[in-house]
Amino acid sequence: VKADLRSTLLEINKTAAKYFYAQLKSNRGETAYRYLTGRALSDETITAFGLGYSSKYSDDLYRYLRSKGYTEDQIRQAGLINTDEKNGVYDKFWNRVMFPIMDVNSRVIGFGGRVMGDGKPKYLNSPETMIFDKSRNLYGLNRARTSRKPYFLVCEGYMDVIALHQAGFTNAVASLGTALTSGHASLIKRYVQEVYLTYDSDDAGTRAALRAVPILKEAGITTRVIRMDPYKDPDEFIKNLGAEAFEERIGKARNGFMFSLETLSKNYDLNTPEGKTDFLKEAARRLGTFEEELERNNYIEAVAKEYQVDMGSLKKLVSKTAIQDG
Ligand code: UTP
Ligand code: MN
Ligand code: MN
Ligand code: MN
Ligand code: MN
Repeated sequence: VKADLRSTLLEINKTAAKYFYAQLKSNRGETAYRYLTGRALSDETITAFGLGYSSKYSDDLYRYLRSKGYTEDQIRQAGLINTDEKNGVYDKFWNRVMFPIMDVNSRVIGFGGRVMGDGKPKYLNSPETMIFDKSRNLYGLNRARTSRKPYFLVCEGYMDVIALHQAGFTNAVASLGTALTSGHASLIKRYVQEVYLTYDSDDAGTRAALRAVPILKEAGITTRVIRMDPYKDPDEFIKNLGAEAFEERIGKARNGFMFSLETLSKNYDLNTPEGKTDFLKEAARRLGTFEEELERNNYIEAVAKEYQVDMGSLKKLVSKTAIQDG
């Protein structure tokens, strides 16, 4: 019975995705269609990602799904309706551009819906359901899995993934409005051993990258960090500077550990002896977390070079710190 419900929920989501897509292509979807082309998406891209539109009429989808024979309870379990005393049953997504979220086998498991303009919330997402676990799925993975690159570009948003794929970077994926988890890391590890983090340039994006580096490392994934400044995110970067400039940034990506240290160093005044010493003590503590001697030594060498400190002294500091911590 449980397996039956799962396949029914998948069917409902697929039917909804087709419905949203048809709405986008109809007269009603004109504003939404113009919104998407205004964001530089081609017809080919819109079709490839199955983008759609949820209309202004608040129980349109619900009535359509009922007409296809699904029960209120099934539609609710698919996460597509809300109910309250005043309004009864109504669609969760209303007057939004719709992004179907697919699992690795291209089955629709949920949706993200964006307001066209400045309304709140900017994106509304399907709740977790029997078929939708946000920490075990990545947006774009169904396409990225067949890219030939030995690494994934991991970014923040739906639009980043789509803009990157359209520009030829078909190895881009995004976590679904949540931080990267160890579940995501093990999912990634099935396909690639290396990740280039391509998060937003703001503080939130930097913090998200700092948190993701150790999670990926734990899963045995090598991490590099790409910066998008002076633009906000990969979508805006590509729109302004194009694919070649993005390729250059990939080439200049920083090693995840060195990126974390660089961010840490901003809390210290490296021009004073005490500031530099305090920073190096924390750096030594982190260097001590590399269990493999060869790897640890390579990082000690890189840090010594970058922060102009004697390698022998740094090595001693790392051993000393390890003993104190242990
Ligand atoms: P951003 O705020 O960076 O938006 O959120 P964006 O992707 O650049 O969106 P555009 O370019 O303005 O359209 C990054 C991601 O975080 C999730 C979404 O998955 C979004 O793509 N998010 C953001 C939400 O789930 N809800 C929100 O209200 C905002
Ligand atoms: Mn979860
Ligand atoms: Mn952001
Ligand atoms: Mn954006
Ligand atoms: Mn963004």
